[in-house]
Amino acid sequence: MPEDPLVVVYTREQISERVRMLGESISRTYGSGDDLLVLGILKGSFIFLADLVREIEIPCQIEFIRVSSYGDALQSSGHVKIGCVDPEVRIRGRTVLLVEDIIDSGVTMNHVVPLLRTWGAVDVEICALLHKRLAALEKEPRWVGFDAPSEFLVGYGLGRGDDLRHLPYIGSLSCY
Ligand code: IMP
Ligand code: MG
Repeated sequence: MPEDPLVVVYTREQISERVRMLGESISRTYGSGDDLLVLGILKGSFIFLADLVREIEIPCQIEFIRVSSYGDALQSSGHVKIGCVDPEVRIRGRTVLLVEDIIDSGVTMNHVVPLLRTWGAVDVEICALLHKRLAALEKEPRWVGFDAPSEFLVGYGLGRGDDLRHLPYIGSLSCY
Protein backbone atom coordinates (compact mmCIF):
# COMPACT_ATOMS: atom_id res chain seq x y z
CA MET A 1 0.00 0.00 0.00
CA PRO A 2 1.18 3.56 -0.66
CA GLU A 3 2.54 5.50 2.29
CA ASP A 4 0.59 8.69 1.56
CA PRO A 5 -3.00 8.81 2.77
CA LEU A 6 -5.25 8.09 -0.19
CA VAL A 7 -8.93 8.85 -0.43
CA VAL A 8 -10.76 6.62 -2.92
CA VAL A 9 -12.53 8.80 -5.50
CA TYR A 10 -13.67 6.15 -8.03
CA THR A 11 -13.85 2.46 -7.17
CA ARG A 12 -12.87 -0.21 -9.67
CA GLU A 13 -16.57 -1.10 -10.03
CA GLN A 14 -17.53 2.51 -10.83
CA ILE A 15 -14.71 2.76 -13.34
CA SER A 16 -15.54 -0.50 -15.06
CA GLU A 17 -19.25 0.40 -15.41
CA ARG A 18 -18.38 3.80 -16.87
CA VAL A 19 -15.78 2.33 -19.26
CA ARG A 20 -18.39 -0.16 -20.48
CA MET A 21 -20.76 2.73 -21.28
CA LEU A 22 -18.04 4.68 -23.06
CA GLY A 23 -17.17 1.65 -25.21
CA GLU A 24 -20.84 1.18 -26.09
CA SER A 25 -21.21 4.81 -27.14
CA ILE A 26 -17.98 4.76 -29.17
CA SER A 27 -19.10 1.57 -30.93
CA ARG A 28 -22.39 3.22 -31.88
CA THR A 29 -20.68 6.37 -33.17
CA TYR A 30 -18.14 4.93 -35.57
CA GLY A 31 -18.85 2.61 -38.47
CA SER A 32 -17.06 -0.62 -39.30
CA GLY A 33 -15.57 1.09 -42.37
CA ASP A 34 -14.00 3.94 -40.40
CA ASP A 35 -10.61 2.27 -40.09
CA LEU A 36 -10.48 3.61 -36.53
CA LEU A 37 -7.12 4.19 -34.89
CA VAL A 38 -7.30 4.24 -31.10
CA LEU A 39 -4.29 6.29 -30.05
CA GLY A 40 -3.34 6.17 -26.39
CA ILE A 41 -1.23 8.81 -24.70
CA LEU A 42 1.41 7.14 -22.56
CA LYS A 43 1.89 6.52 -19.89
CA GLY A 44 -1.28 7.49 -18.09
CA SER A 45 -3.80 5.95 -20.50
CA PHE A 46 -2.41 2.41 -20.60
CA ILE A 47 -4.91 0.75 -18.25
CA PHE A 48 -7.88 2.81 -19.41
CA LEU A 49 -7.14 2.06 -23.07
CA ALA A 50 -6.70 -1.64 -22.38
CA ASP A 51 -10.11 -1.81 -20.71
CA LEU A 52 -11.81 0.54 -23.19
CA VAL A 53 -10.84 -1.32 -26.36
CA ARG A 54 -12.29 -4.52 -24.90
CA GLU A 55 -15.64 -2.70 -24.77
CA ILE A 56 -15.38 -1.45 -28.38
CA GLU A 57 -17.26 -3.71 -30.74
CA ILE A 58 -16.14 -2.33 -34.09
CA PRO A 59 -12.82 -3.04 -35.83
CA CYS A 60 -10.01 -0.79 -34.65
CA GLN A 61 -6.26 -0.61 -34.45
CA ILE A 62 -4.25 0.50 -31.44
CA GLU A 63 -1.19 2.71 -31.16
CA PHE A 64 0.48 4.86 -28.54
CA ILE A 65 2.38 8.11 -28.39
CA ARG A 66 4.44 9.16 -25.43
CA VAL A 67 3.73 12.64 -24.13
CA SER A 68 4.94 14.16 -20.90
CA SER A 69 4.66 17.50 -19.19
CA TYR A 70 4.68 16.67 -15.48
CA GLY A 71 7.94 14.82 -14.83
CA ASP A 72 7.86 14.03 -11.13
CA ALA A 73 5.92 17.19 -10.27
CA LEU A 74 2.27 17.46 -9.29
CA GLN A 75 1.68 20.33 -11.71
CA SER A 76 2.27 20.66 -15.42
CA SER A 77 5.56 22.24 -16.42
CA GLY A 78 3.65 23.89 -19.26
CA HIS A 79 6.04 22.31 -21.76
CA VAL A 80 4.97 19.22 -23.63
CA LYS A 81 7.55 16.63 -24.66
CA ILE A 82 6.63 14.20 -27.41
CA GLY A 83 8.71 11.05 -27.28
CA CYS A 84 8.77 7.55 -28.67
CA VAL A 85 6.49 8.30 -31.61
CA ASP A 86 6.54 5.01 -33.44
CA PRO A 87 7.47 5.85 -37.04
CA GLU A 88 5.14 3.08 -38.12
CA VAL A 89 2.15 4.89 -36.63
CA ARG A 90 0.08 5.71 -39.66
CA ILE A 91 -1.76 8.88 -38.83
CA ARG A 92 -2.22 10.24 -42.33
CA GLY A 93 -5.76 9.80 -43.59
CA ARG A 94 -6.89 8.11 -40.38
CA THR A 95 -9.89 8.50 -38.12
CA VAL A 96 -8.22 8.91 -34.74
CA LEU A 97 -9.70 8.41 -31.30
CA LEU A 98 -7.25 9.95 -28.87
CA VAL A 99 -7.39 8.29 -25.46
CA GLU A 100 -6.23 10.30 -22.47
CA ASP A 101 -6.31 9.52 -18.76
CA ILE A 102 -7.01 13.02 -17.47
CA ILE A 103 -7.31 16.57 -18.76
CA ASP A 104 -6.06 19.14 -16.29
CA SER A 105 -4.46 22.35 -17.64
CA GLY A 106 -5.28 21.33 -21.22
CA VAL A 107 -1.69 21.98 -22.32
CA THR A 108 -1.26 18.40 -23.54
CA MET A 109 -4.48 18.26 -25.56
CA ASN A 110 -3.96 21.71 -27.04
CA HIS A 111 -0.56 20.51 -28.23
CA VAL A 112 -1.40 17.01 -29.43
CA VAL A 113 -4.62 17.64 -31.36
CA PRO A 114 -3.07 20.17 -33.80
CA LEU A 115 -0.05 17.87 -34.13
CA LEU A 116 -2.28 15.00 -35.25
CA ARG A 117 -3.85 17.28 -37.83
CA THR A 118 -0.37 18.25 -39.04
CA TRP A 119 0.41 14.54 -39.35
CA GLY A 120 -2.63 14.21 -41.61
CA ALA A 121 -5.39 12.79 -39.40
CA VAL A 122 -8.72 13.40 -41.14
CA ASP A 123 -10.85 13.12 -38.03
CA VAL A 124 -9.80 13.48 -34.39
CA GLU A 125 -12.01 12.85 -31.39
CA ILE A 126 -10.97 12.61 -27.75
CA CYS A 127 -12.02 10.15 -25.09
CA ALA A 128 -10.76 11.22 -21.66
CA LEU A 129 -11.43 9.15 -18.57
CA LEU A 130 -11.25 12.21 -16.32
CA HIS A 131 -11.76 15.91 -17.01
CA LYS A 132 -11.10 18.57 -14.40
CA ARG A 133 -12.95 21.18 -16.54
CA LEU A 134 -10.38 23.86 -15.76
CA ALA A 135 -8.98 24.31 -19.23
CA ALA A 136 -9.86 26.28 -22.30
CA LEU A 137 -9.55 23.53 -24.89
CA GLU A 138 -9.32 23.99 -28.62
CA LYS A 139 -11.25 20.74 -28.88
CA GLU A 140 -13.46 19.38 -26.11
CA PRO A 141 -13.46 15.60 -25.60
CA ARG A 142 -16.47 13.91 -27.17
CA TRP A 143 -16.36 11.27 -24.44
CA VAL A 144 -15.58 11.87 -20.77
CA GLY A 145 -15.69 9.22 -18.06
CA PHE A 146 -16.00 11.48 -15.05
CA ASP A 147 -15.84 15.20 -14.27
CA ALA A 148 -12.98 15.03 -11.80
CA PRO A 149 -12.31 17.09 -8.69
CA SER A 150 -9.45 19.55 -8.87
CA GLU A 151 -7.16 17.29 -6.86
CA PHE A 152 -4.11 15.22 -7.72
CA LEU A 153 -5.46 11.80 -8.63
CA VAL A 154 -3.54 8.53 -8.83
CA GLY A 155 -4.17 4.93 -9.77
CA TYR A 156 -5.71 3.13 -12.77
CA GLY A 157 -2.74 4.33 -14.85
CA LEU A 158 -2.37 7.80 -13.31
CA GLY A 159 0.92 8.27 -11.56
CA ARG A 160 2.63 10.47 -9.10
CA GLY A 161 5.89 10.46 -10.98
CA ASP A 162 5.88 6.80 -11.93
CA ASP A 163 4.43 5.53 -8.67
CA LEU A 164 0.89 4.39 -7.86
CA ARG A 165 -0.12 3.72 -11.47
CA HIS A 166 -0.88 0.11 -10.64
CA LEU A 167 -3.73 0.78 -8.20
CA PRO A 168 -6.99 -0.70 -9.53
CA TYR A 169 -9.02 2.28 -8.29
CA ILE A 170 -8.55 6.06 -8.53
CA GLY A 171 -7.63 7.92 -5.37
CA SER A 172 -6.79 11.45 -4.34
CA LEU A 173 -3.56 12.35 -2.60
CA SER A 174 -4.80 14.37 0.34
CA CYS A 175 -1.28 15.73 0.84
CA TYR A 176 -1.64 17.71 -2.39
P1 IMP B 1 -2.60 18.71 -18.73
O1 IMP B 1 -1.63 18.89 -19.86
O2 IMP B 1 -2.29 19.63 -17.59
O3 IMP B 1 -4.05 18.77 -19.14
O4 IMP B 1 -2.38 17.31 -18.12
C1 IMP B 1 -2.25 16.25 -18.90
C2 IMP B 1 -1.44 15.13 -18.31
O5 IMP B 1 -0.89 15.41 -17.02
C3 IMP B 1 -2.33 13.96 -18.12
O6 IMP B 1 -2.30 13.18 -19.27
C4 IMP B 1 -1.68 13.24 -16.98
O7 IMP B 1 -0.68 12.41 -17.48
C5 IMP B 1 -1.06 14.33 -16.16
N1 IMP B 1 -1.98 14.70 -15.06
C6 IMP B 1 -2.79 15.77 -14.98
N2 IMP B 1 -3.49 15.79 -13.84
C7 IMP B 1 -3.11 14.69 -13.17
C8 IMP B 1 -3.50 14.12 -11.91
O8 IMP B 1 -4.35 14.62 -11.16
N3 IMP B 1 -2.88 12.95 -11.58
C9 IMP B 1 -1.95 12.34 -12.37
N4 IMP B 1 -1.58 12.83 -13.55
C10 IMP B 1 -2.15 13.99 -13.95
MG1 MG C 1 -1.30 11.61 -19.57
